Amino acid sequence: MKIRDKTLSVLQPHGGDEEVNALRDTIESGWWAKGPKVAQFEKEFAEMVGSKYAIAVTSATHGQDLVLKAMGIKDCDIINPTNSFMTTAVVPLWNNCTSNIVDVLPDNMCIDPEDVKRNLKPNTKAIIAVNQAGVPADIDAIREFYDGFILEDCAHSCYTPGAGSKGDVAVWSFQAVKTMPCGDGGMITLNDKELYEKLVPMTWLGISSTYSRVRNTHNGKPGYTWDYEVDTLGYKCYMIDIIATICLEQMKKLPKNLEWRRHIQHRYSTELAEYIQPPVYSDTVQYYCAKVPPEHRNNLINYLADKNIHTSIHFKPLHKFKLMKEFTKREYPVADVEWQKLISLPCHSAMKEEDIDYVMYWIREYFSERN
Ligand SMILES: Cc1ncc(COP(=O)(O)O)c(C=O)c1O
Repeated sequence: MKIRDKTLSVLQPHGGDEEVNALRDTIESGWWAKGPKVAQFEKEFAEMVGSKYAIAVTSATHGQDLVLKAMGIKDCDIINPTNSFMTTAVVPLWNNCTSNIVDVLPDNMCIDPEDVKRNLKPNTKAIIAVNQAGVPADIDAIREFYDGFILEDCAHSCYTPGAGSKGDVAVWSFQAVKTMPCGDGGMITLNDKELYEKLVPMTWLGISSTYSRVRNTHNGKPGYTWDYEVDTLGYKCYMIDIIATICLEQMKKLPKNLEWRRHIQHRYSTELAEYIQPPVYSDTVQYYCAKVPPEHRNNLINYLADKNIHTSIHFKPLHKFKLMKEFTKREYPVADVEWQKLISLPCHSAMKEEDIDYVMYWIREYFSERN
């Protein structure tokens, strides 16, 4: 097969006229910051995931940080899995906590409940459980021995049925390569009214929203209520209408996009079964994390790169990063073996059937050239 000139991305956002037209309407509406689009998005997203409340923020990273701050979780220990993105290990550090990084399970690469149990400390006040590549972490198993706070990291599970329902609070990501991308954005979902009411002003320096003040009538008549009070230390991480506009359009496309991602997953998993170890089935297929024998992993990445196919690894374990050294003076027997097999193959909504064929052709070629 002819090698293509253009690189096939491993992950990529995909939009079109719908996003462009909706953005034009928002821009012409004169309301660009947090306003009606954010309110609509929060409402529809909460309905989709079956949560009472939703708060749109600038990213999942800042969403997780805000939740810890609102809960007063600081100066303690926070458990998180080594197979994850830097967010889950660093947000505890922002709150003066130890980042207690634990091992993962070999099949789904999610947090290992037994390793959580072994590493619980008297001052462990939170566990961040990541639904890795959209596969639910076993939060039920953790609940059997731990009744503290669990933050469910749903950055990869937008939208896996049932995701966000096991943790005390869930945080979602709409970053550029996620299943519902908007560039950068996140959502906090929860059922606790008191925590919700605390979190909302914390997204804007402790100030209640301008939009809700404009929307509320004054003595029964429309009017701008200029006054506000601040009694909580807040930050600045609310989502704006320009971003929510893209999210709303992407949310409409989500079922079709996920169907397509599952189709890609199905083709790779069935047609490449001879060459790769397919990942555990995922409803969202945020990443298609195949495994290959470790002696082939880097060679295959380079071979595919020569064919203009971009791959990745989700993830290099967090305990391998210098920043995390002081928190990870222990063994990670599962992650250390399994991560060396990981290779994420291209999987996104912009891919076409012939792109899947192209990837599979060169993977077959790689292995047949070595037999
Ligand atoms: C597991 C996990 N948690 C959190 C995040 C952070 O999301 P955001 O980029 O929206 O801050 C990511 C991003 O990839 C992630 O993979």
